[in-house]
Amino acid sequence: MRIDMPVDPRIAYHLNELEIARDPASPHRLMPELRGDDRAVLDIGCGIGQTLACLDAKGKLLVGLDVDLRCLAYGHRLFADLCFVHGAAERLPFRDQAFDLVLSRVSLPYTHIPRALTEIERVLGPDGRVWFALHPLAMAGRDLMNALRRIELRNSVYRTYVVFNGIALHMFGRQFPFLWKRRYESFQSIAGMTKAMRKTGFTDVSFARSGLHLICTARKAQPRFADGLSEVDDLHHFNGAAAGRTAPPPERR
Ligand SMILES: C[S@@+](CC[C@H](N)C(=O)[O-])C[C@H]1O[C@@H](n2cnc3c(N)ncnc32)[C@H](O)[C@@H]1O
Repeated sequence: MRIDMPVDPRIAYHLNELEIARDPASPHRLMPELRGDDRAVLDIGCGIGQTLACLDAKGKLLVGLDVDLRCLAYGHRLFADLCFVHGAAERLPFRDQAFDLVLSRVSLPYTHIPRALTEIERVLGPDGRVWFALHPLAMAGRDLMNALRRIELRNSVYRTYVVFNGIALHMFGRQFPFLWKRRYESFQSIAGMTKAMRKTGFTDVSFARSGLHLICTARKAQPRFADGLSEVDDLHHFNGAAAGRTAPPPERR
């Protein structure tokens, strides 16, 4: 396979990440685990498709979405078997319940997270899962300190905004764009993400550290009826009652 010499630093970044994803011994490698019965996987902020291309995913539909058309075009030339879609995390161009797994590797930090989570929940099937690699405070703090130390004025202002936006997400579950640009960035705390994910309809939210990154996994919550039973609980309850093992579920008002 021939890879053109990249001129665009963004493409160079993605190619470097591709090398990391291809190297199982790399300490920077961060990859989600697929399940045998996953049929459709969406990568939000896929770049040139570096993460999807390195998954062991024969026979699965692999879809990469990104706002950067140039990266998608580059990825399309490299990986003909991946499906590349131009779009934003906050407005996913997919039908409801289309995916079994939604992953996002260090891309959610650049989105309006509450809106992106709402969309991710919508496109996940009833048993759907998520896998996110996130930026914790330590990373945002390091970037701010570096900008200050190098006396980079504009970057210092921007890095301060990122820290404040992370605090806003942590404390109030809110996100703000950077000045007049419709651009978002924040760090993610465990408490802030847990609150945002539960509010959106995720359950089994758990976190792990990998180097400086924070890995978050969760499952789409089952829809609940007014009596407090989920659709699946209700079905088990009903089947049990039919077999004479339990009382029938309470009537819904
Ligand atoms: C740091 S790169 C990560 C790329 C890749 N996931 C990886 O792990 O190497 C972040 C990516 O998110 C994309 N991105 C930024 N904002 C986005 C948004 N609102 N919706 C979708 N993609 C976005 C960028 O274009 C970029 O490709």
